[in-house]
Amino acid sequence: MKAFFFANPFSLSSLLAGVLGAAALAASLPANAGGNAAAGEKKAETCAACHGPGGAKPATPDYPVLAGQHADYLRQALTAYQKGKRKNAIMSGMAAPLSKQDIADLAAYFASQKSLTDKY
Ligand code: HEC
Repeated sequence: MKAFFFANPFSLSSLLAGVLGAAALAASLPANAGGNAAAGEKKAETCAACHGPGGAKPATPDYPVLAGQHADYLRQALTAYQKGKRKNAIMSGMAAPLSKQDIADLAAYFASQKSLTDKY
């Protein structure tokens, strides 16, 4: 195999270009692949009642901050509520009607919000 590459500099460089291209593509994929933050912002209006504007200032300290949380974490939490793996009376009701795309969009939106500006 090695001898084949050395004997064919063109196939070696095109192989390298392919590998580098794939790596660049993988690096440019957002962590919240498939989620659209702008679409999520509209879907998040009802969430603000408890989690606060942008998910950053919850109505009570018992309600979690969503702003700045990892998109994959938010996605996992919402999916778990929806499937009943994580049990909470409020959030299973909130998650029930969401589509996979809604969840991805909401996760992308809250992940993109500025969080935890409190000084202690
Ligand atoms: C009526 C109040 C209320 C509303 C409205 C609400 N939530 Fe929640 N949410 C909560 C509470 C309370 C919890 C904590 C539940 C628990 O302990 O599991 C929570 C937890 C969460 C979590 C898990 C956070 C973590 O740190 O694990 C996510 C994600 C979440 N909510 C997203 C949403 C989204 C998205 C919406 C809007 C579609 C929404 N919530 C609307 C009250 C609310």
